[in-house]
Amino acid sequence: MTMVLNTIAAARQWLHAERNSGRTIGLVPTMGFLHEGHLSLIRRAKQRCDRTVVSLFVNPLQFGPGEDYDRYPREFSRDLTLLEGEQTDAVFHPDAGEMVPAPPAISVSAGKMGERLCGESRPGHFNGVATVVAKLFHILEPHRAFFGQKDAQQIAILRAMVRELNFPLELEVCPIVREPDGLAMSSRNVYLSAQERKHATVLYRSLEKARSLIASGTRDAGLIEREMREMVEAVPGTKLDYARVVDTNSLEAIGEVRGEVLVAVAVRFGKTRLIDNMLLAPKATGPRH
Ligand code: PAF
Repeated sequence: MTMVLNTIAAARQWLHAERNSGRTIGLVPTMGFLHEGHLSLIRRAKQRCDRTVVSLFVNPLQFGPGEDYDRYPREFSRDLTLLEGEQTDAVFHPDAGEMVPAPPAISVSAGKMGERLCGESRPGHFNGVATVVAKLFHILEPHRAFFGQKDAQQIAILRAMVRELNFPLELEVCPIVREPDGLAMSSRNVYLSAQERKHATVLYRSLEKARSLIASGTRDAGLIEREMREMVEAVPGTKLDYARVVDTNSLEAIGEVRGEVLVAVAVRFGKTRLIDNMLLAPKATGPRH
């Protein structure tokens, strides 16, 4: 049975008892509507820690005006069934009212890193992510927290947050889980029409293009970005947000591919905005994720 913790007090009490018994705690932060990508994080947490808690909270702080906060898919009973199937120890499922003061007076700033890539079209998004994740870390005090590589910018920012704000925990990053045709798993994939779903494979195809360019000796980041852009723009009904080759840690643009780089892409298919990425290095024979 998965223990359902609906309040901060209940979560603290349960976790306090677990920690006092000497057990290690793994946290998998999610916004729910779980898919195989989330389940892979839970399986990893269960291997690495004595107790696994999944947080399930659609965080209003990370949605901008006009974004999909209201229509973001929420199906708690479906999620709970999946969590029980994975023998998850506990789920933290707080109310927005308890998690987010209205209006909040304090926020964690993701700084310049939060303004790059997705931050260009989603101002404030990463401040909202960093603030809620900091709260989850304080409330649940995990020994390890598990995130998916699909949100590469989120990972770079949370790594910096853990380091600079001295959170006593380890972040673990798990590989992207993909559909058979390469589309990365995302809770937002359910928004796609049948046509958009077909078109959405261009995300992965553009990353594969970058991979083969780098593998065959291309080092000019601008050229790789241009090839990716042309591939995305050739698909009808798509709107490219960005296709970039950047430094993996700082997310800053680079001119030349020398070591490992983050190749990241964001595209809109109608009202749905999807992201994907690969970590690529000149000598790599294949994608690491
Ligand atoms: O990656 C997500 O689902 C969210 O950004 C997170 C980390 C749960 C914070 O709300």
